[in-house]
This record gives sequence, C-alpha cells and structure tokens, in this order.
Amino acid sequence: MNRRNFILSSLLAATLPIQATPIHRPKFPKSPFTLGVASGDPTPEGFVLWTRLALEPLEKGGGMPPEPVPVTWELALDSGMKDVIRKNSTSAIPGLAHSVHVDIAGLKSDREYWYRFRSGDYFSRTGKTKTLPAETSDSKKIRFVTTSCQNYTHGYFVAYDHIIADQPDFIMHLGDYIYDTSFGEDFRKHDRDESPESLEHFRQRHALYKREIHLQNAHARIPFFSMIDNHDAVEDLTEGNMAKRAAAYQAWYEHMPVRGYPFAGANQFDLHRNIKLGNLLQINFLDTRQFRSKRDVCNTGIGSSLGFGNYRERCQDLFEENRTILGKDQTDWLVNKLRSSQSIWNVLASPGPFLPFRIRNKNKELGYIGAWDAYPENRKEIIRAINQSEGHPLILSGDMHSFWALDSSFDKSLDVGTPLTEFVSSSISANWPEPLSKPVTVSLKSNNQVKFYNGEKRGYFLHEVHKDTWQATAKAIVSTKKRNSESFALAKFIVSRGESGFRTTKEI
Ligand SMILES: [Fe+2]
Repeated sequence: MNRRNFILSSLLAATLPIQATPIHRPKFPKSPFTLGVASGDPTPEGFVLWTRLALEPLEKGGGMPPEPVPVTWELALDSGMKDVIRKNSTSAIPGLAHSVHVDIAGLKSDREYWYRFRSGDYFSRTGKTKTLPAETSDSKKIRFVTTSCQNYTHGYFVAYDHIIADQPDFIMHLGDYIYDTSFGEDFRKHDRDESPESLEHFRQRHALYKREIHLQNAHARIPFFSMIDNHDAVEDLTEGNMAKRAAAYQAWYEHMPVRGYPFAGANQFDLHRNIKLGNLLQINFLDTRQFRSKRDVCNTGIGSSLGFGNYRERCQDLFEENRTILGKDQTDWLVNKLRSSQSIWNVLASPGPFLPFRIRNKNKELGYIGAWDAYPENRKEIIRAINQSEGHPLILSGDMHSFWALDSSFDKSLDVGTPLTEFVSSSISANWPEPLSKPVTVSLKSNNQVKFYNGEKRGYFLHEVHKDTWQATAKAIVSTKKRNSESFALAKFIVSRGESGFRTTKEI
C-alpha cells in the first residue's frame, strides 16, 4: 500500500501540541478486514475474539504501515449489534502482524454473543460466538465437530459449509490448519512452492488460507479450539530449526483465536487444555508434537521408505521407558485430569491416532511413526490412568486423512483393561495418497479393532453428546474440488454409556 494513502490520525494527534479533538480513526483506502473475524478458546464465562488488519494480505506486512493501528471492538447480545454490552479499543501492532486478540471474561455461561471490530471508517463483518455451559451445570446436550488437515493445494474447504449447517457449539480443529507443501498435487497453488521458512513466509501462508471464504464463514459463526500439528510447524526441535519453529508458532498465533502465547518469537506455546462442558463431558485436548521424544527412530529397513517413511519397523528404540509423546509435564497434567474427572464422558482429543494399528509388510510388523504407536510406554501410562478414572472414556483424533472407528475390545494383543473407542476424523481437504493408504487397506483384515474405515472421503465427525448416548456421524464431502458440494453421512456410530464399543449403521 502507498504510505501516503495512510494517515494515522491518532498518532499524528499525539505528536501535535494542540489538538482540540484528537481524531482516533486511521484513514484506509479500503477495508482492512480482508481476513475475517474469529472466536475461540471459549470458557463458561468468555472467549477470545480475533481479527487481523491486512489491506494486502499476501504482501509483506499485509500492506499495512509499520505502526500501531487503533481498533475498536464491540460485543452485543443481538445479531444487529444494537444491544452492545462491552466496547473498548486496542492497538493492532506490526510486531504481531496487526492481529487483534481480545480475551473477554465475566460473561454468562451457555449463551450466544455477537461481535465486530472497527478500524478507521470500516467495520468488520459481525461474528457470532457462544460461551460454554457452567462447569457445575447439568448440561443435557452438546454438539461439536472434530476435524483437521486442510491442504489448500488439494481442494476447497467446502466441508465448513456443512459444519456451519450442523450448528455445532464449537469446532475442535486437531491440527494441520496450514500445510507447508503440496506433496506434488497441484489442484491449486500455494503462495510459494517452497515450504515457509521465515516469519513473513508463514504469515503469507496463513493469510492465503484465511482468505478462503468457507473458512472465514466458519470462524465468523462458530468458536474454535485449535492445536498445532506437524504441517503447521516443525515438530522436532533442533538447533538448526529453532528460528523456523518460532516463526511458525508466532504466525499461527497471529492468525488464530487463542490465548496463552507468551511473547513474540517464543519457541514454546502451551496449548493443551482441559475443556469441561458441565458435568456431561470433559475433553483433554492434547499436544502430541511439541514436547515429544524424537520422531526419527527405527529409520532402517523397509520402514525407511514405506508410506514416505511414515510406517516403520517397531525397533527397540520405540520401547524405551522414558520415550514420551506428551512430555513429562503434560503427561502428569493429563493423568491428574483423568483421575480427578467427575464427568459422564471422559474424552481425549489427540491430533494423531491413539489405538494401535499394525501394518503387515513382507512378514514384518510396522507401525505409524507419527502418533501414539511410536510411543507405546507413554500410551500405557495414559491407559492406566483411564482405567483408574470415572466416566466413559472416548478418544477423538485425526491426522490420517481418512475415517476410522475403532473398538479396542476386538484387539486381543492389547492390554487395555477398560475397552476404548476411538473415532478418527478425515481431513477438510488433504488427500490420502496410495503410498499411505495401501499399506493400511491391506492390513485391515489383521486389525480386528478397526470396525469402520473409509479412505476415499474428506470430511469431519459430528458428535452429539447426551447423558446416556454419544452419537458420532462421519460426514463426507462429495467433492472437495468444487466450491459447492453436497455432504452425506458415511456412517453413524452410537456409543451407550457403560457399554463397550458402539453400534453402527455400516461396517467395513
Ligand atoms: Fe494432516
């Protein structure tokens, strides 16, 4: 943007000795709200409201001047923004890409609110959000979505149209909100072919994704809980990639409605959360990338190439006692949350799959290296804590770009104790290519715990939780290659409280 077009009147006012009526409105040549609005991290008494000012979102600095810009926000009880109950001003600073995070507390639980931002003469669109039910409330019903993995180059984010129509209380985004690369599939192109490296690169990648109208619409209507996964940021921290990870974390924060980012340039960002929804359910939302032991083990033999190196022989290194996917602090936190839970449903939300899956290849047994199968000792510790906890356990995950429903009571090799059910959501748009899917499909017969699998469809899981039943619907998108596409229920699964496994409308 031409700097001369931008007159930051409020700053000028501050430098002038006499100014009877300071003008607090910057002048923009067009709306700076090109990336939409969002809400997230809801609690019973509040949420985070987000926007980012960017006149030219794909340009360096978002086409904004390298100066703080005043932004006003309003919170109302009605969609017309007539009954405003909170209003204040803040400053969008260039050090955080002119993003705005407003953390609001002290609101009523379990009710809808509307919000919008204003900067200069422009208003943002009006967003809608909702607080969670009070932790002590006798909540009767919660409806939410789990999904993940939106690769811009593989298709449109049309799944969000159907998520909006389902009217969930919130969306749990299990990670891979952006992708570093296209993996060779070029349905459409990223802002650059190479992976992002610098803060500016990551900002541009996020801006490209945030420009998608399906995603903007979802953010403007439904609060998100979000987690970083391996395509959002590098997973194993080394001396060589510390700056890149810090850039990825910062850009992720700048574009997400989340709280808790410690400071610009931070290389650590505590995102694991315990979400309580009345006494109906608690969800322990896990970070399985940031604090884990090194991923790159057992890197020899067949496993070094199968599934792009994701399926590896289960060598001795996996079974080291101290090997951890959550890290010690998060493991202790989770064990404590599980043991102290008094909720009817006791849920783990993990970016990657939790229950074992054995891949057969040339008489060898392999496992997926990107999730809990590569951290069996840490998994045992968590299963022990689940066995000692109250409430019906359930696991929700993603990362596999395919739909799965698993019932651990059908796996005789598992020393699980309490039978566990897991629903793995498919992706918003990221594909599930043959080198990854074929080793899975040929191994399904020897994995009796997998009661349902679909590798063809993209989509999400819709969860409708009641006191005595949990209904999980695998919602598939007909085609992510079309901006408008229908959805349909691939299968429905009903879990009855106190009974192992689930009933289903379809099986593999
Ligand atoms: Fe993914």
